Amino acid sequence: MGNNYPSATSRSAELYQRGRSVIPDGVSRSTVIIRPHPIYVDHGEGAWVTDVDGNRYLDCNNNFTSIILGHADPEIENAVRKQLSSGTAFSMATEAEIQLAELLCSRISSCQQIRFCNSGTEAVMGSIKAARAFTNRPAIIKIEGSYHGTYDHAEASLGSDPSNWGAADRPVTIPYSTGTPGSLADEVVVVQFNDIVGVTEAIQRVGSRLAAVLLDPMPSRVGMPAIEPLFAEAIRTGTRDVGALLILDEVISFRLGIGGAQLIHNIEPDLTALAKIIGGGFPVGAIGGRSDVMDVFAAVKGNRAAVPSGGTYTANPITMTAGFACMGQLDESSFDRLDQIGTQVREGLTDLFETRSLNWHVTGAGSLFRIHPHQRTVNSYRDAHLDSDEVALMELLQRQLLEREVYFSGYGMGCLNLATSDRDIEHLLEAIGHALTIVDS
Ligand SMILES: Cc1ncc(COP(=O)(O)O)c(C=O)c1O
Repeated sequence: MGNNYPSATSRSAELYQRGRSVIPDGVSRSTVIIRPHPIYVDHGEGAWVTDVDGNRYLDCNNNFTSIILGHADPEIENAVRKQLSSGTAFSMATEAEIQLAELLCSRISSCQQIRFCNSGTEAVMGSIKAARAFTNRPAIIKIEGSYHGTYDHAEASLGSDPSNWGAADRPVTIPYSTGTPGSLADEVVVVQFNDIVGVTEAIQRVGSRLAAVLLDPMPSRVGMPAIEPLFAEAIRTGTRDVGALLILDEVISFRLGIGGAQLIHNIEPDLTALAKIIGGGFPVGAIGGRSDVMDVFAAVKGNRAAVPSGGTYTANPITMTAGFACMGQLDESSFDRLDQIGTQVREGLTDLFETRSLNWHVTGAGSLFRIHPHQRTVNSYRDAHLDSDEVALMELLQRQLLEREVYFSGYGMGCLNLATSDRDIEHLLEAIGHALTIVDS
């Protein structure tokens, strides 16, 4: 055990003070904030990161699941260096874009074509716009508490709580950002994860106004529940019945297997939103799907498509090269190994909770896990939603783990990369074991 967090005299604390004078809250990303001060990273290598004070951490967050091979992967580094010396961004097309698109289309059976963008937020937004254009309808259905980035419609009911979430069978559509137009409720209907009756009724109710259902097959903020096959089936059949689309958000779940969660769960979406791992550590997003739907992005008259899309850095050759170098290294055996280390952690945690007679449990799959400081079976956001005592417990766990050389989220979500060794897993479980003696006292 060695790290000292928080430390008012650390370089991280000093940088935070400096950052706050020019950046609201000191950083441009709310999710990297840890109170009283975030940790400023110096470098990463493999499964470990080192901060600006020289503290080391086993990285159990991996840039919110976007790093899959490990930090500073040599093959990605070499490929990117080579591209760097040829230029980073052009107002011309590159072959690198085609290479990555070909690779992704060959792995995702529902994707005949792909269009790139710069983030998962953009990928989800673009998918929603594509569904609206294809169906000529305005409304979507989304899952309560499910995170899909920061587009107004996609973030509806992301932060609902018992004071405003409404009836279980008819969740209220709650805007996330203050000032979001009230018309949001006309265009977004919210249902609970795994509520088969609820989603079936909602699809029928919205009917001819429904453009798409937006679904993450293992939503992290909903507690990483296992999807009920009948729930996925109800969405697929229901959307087809009313002429709407199914958008599968695989921004995180694409790290679960070579063909994504859709292959594992036998889900056949019309559109798939991708991001994170497909950029090999660089900013990325992508929308993939059936060619007839993807046609909304193709210009039919001059340069004007039904859904014009693009951006200054879209499909830039650095991201495309890094993404190809990353995805090309992943094969079936990579995902087997990720499953293996994830299982070791989930089983190890279950043992730890049992040994300590702690009423906690763990969910997740593949390289992803989520700790729940309670015994409620997690099927939906409402089951996973933490009360203030539980929030405090998870924050204390995070604090204890930082001291024990583990970088972990403040709400129980964990993610491992391929460079994680068996010894690293032992380190993680040992650290959590020790941390629990404090958290549980
Ligand atoms: C499921 C899901 N969709 C979309 C997004 C948004 O991706 P990005 O942060 O690249 O905008 C995220 C980000 O964490 C996500 O987890």
